[in-house]
Amino acid sequence: MTMMQRWKNRKRSHFPLLGFILLVFIACSVLFSERTILIIEKNPSDSPPERTFTYINPNLEPTSDSVQELDRFSRCNTTGEYSGKKIRWVGLEPESGGSRRKRESLERCDVFSGKWVFDDESYPLYNESDCPYMSDQLACHKHGRSDLGYQHWRWQPHNCNLKRWNAIEMWEKLRGKRLMFVGDSLNRGQWISMICLLQSVIPAEKRSITPNSQLTIFKAENYNATIEFLWAPLLVDSNSDDPVNHRLDERIIRPDSVLKHSAKWEHADILVFNTYLWWRQGPVKLLWSDQENASCEELDGLGAMELVMQTWADRLASKSKYLDKQIFFVTMSPTHL
Ligand SMILES: *[C@@H]1O[C@H](CO)[C@@H](O)[C@H](O)[C@H]1NC(C)=O
Ligand SMILES: *[C@@H]1O[C@H](CO)[C@@H](O)[C@H](O)[C@H]1NC(C)=O
Ligand SMILES: *[C@@H]1O[C@H](CO)[C@@H](O)[C@H](O)[C@H]1NC(C)=O
Ligand SMILES: *[C@@H]1O[C@H](CO)[C@@H](O)[C@H](O)[C@H]1NC(C)=O
Repeated sequence: MTMMQRWKNRKRSHFPLLGFILLVFIACSVLFSERTILIIEKNPSDSPPERTFTYINPNLEPTSDSVQELDRFSRCNTTGEYSGKKIRWVGLEPESGGSRRKRESLERCDVFSGKWVFDDESYPLYNESDCPYMSDQLACHKHGRSDLGYQHWRWQPHNCNLKRWNAIEMWEKLRGKRLMFVGDSLNRGQWISMICLLQSVIPAEKRSITPNSQLTIFKAENYNATIEFLWAPLLVDSNSDDPVNHRLDERIIRPDSVLKHSAKWEHADILVFNTYLWWRQGPVKLLWSDQENASCEELDGLGAMELVMQTWADRLASKSKYLDKQIFFVTMSPTHL
């Protein structure tokens, strides 16, 4: 949400070369979108049929006897077409005020507008082998990558300079707080990276990490702070929520059940969500809480993602207790095999 405001506030540059590049870019996007429109018009049979939607209330029970939690052994007995059901939060929890507190812009600079620059002097900020929490999946150097230039890229906002990374300063900001990443392996990578950036200044006896589970917590006792990761690749209750065994052929979700996971992230002060790649692997089966006999509906991945993102965003907007949190959403990423 802050990102939107930042986009609007973005200053235009008067630099003529940039203006020229912008013009070329606009021309290209016009050409491109015209081509896209033409292609779409050529294949009218590809466009989805008009749908009418019905709105249902979310399943507010985090766990109940009648609604079984999904796990990797869950299966659909039958699969039908998507019925057009959506989730409605509005009116469930009337909140006073209702307007999200506007954050006074302390940083005048739009940190989202910038570029990557090669920095041979002050980067890398940590060495892979010095971080005891580095996972094998991310340890490129250990597994034979010899060019280490990729560690030297530093984000440079267009209109200001970021302060040099300082782990102690960062811990002071995190004192008494819980910083949490929620999502898939992209966010797990961000989480481990954050720990590696911060861990070296914490004495070994003051830091701990819970074993690999759905919710993994790094704790710095002397700052009473945690950096946590919740494995929830599809944000809602799904058959892929096992942190280790989740490579399944079919995705089953409970679109009306966000609470199973939100109970695990509600306590955090700073939240970083992401989800994307897991919606790109074929159709998704929807198992609504009121469906007996495991009868599912099927929806294409992006349609299902839209349904879930809407539910998630409405949930965040509907509760005043979320207003004091800082919430970020990391947008789509390429694959990282
Ligand atoms: C990383 O390792 C190199 C070479 O061993 C060393 O020169 C450098 O200071 C290290 N960087 C950090 C941030 O520890
Ligand atoms: C530690 O932080 C938590 C909030 O995460 C707070 O409730 C608790 O009182 C803090 N404990 C101390 C000893 O400061
Ligand atoms: C579930 O299956 C049982 C037995 O096959 C059947 O009697 C019942 O009507 C089914 N329920 C629904 C909601 O389809
Ligand atoms: C699947 O259907 C069969 C028979 O219709 C029923 O016995 C079984 O309980 C169903 N499975 C689930 C998970 O509901």
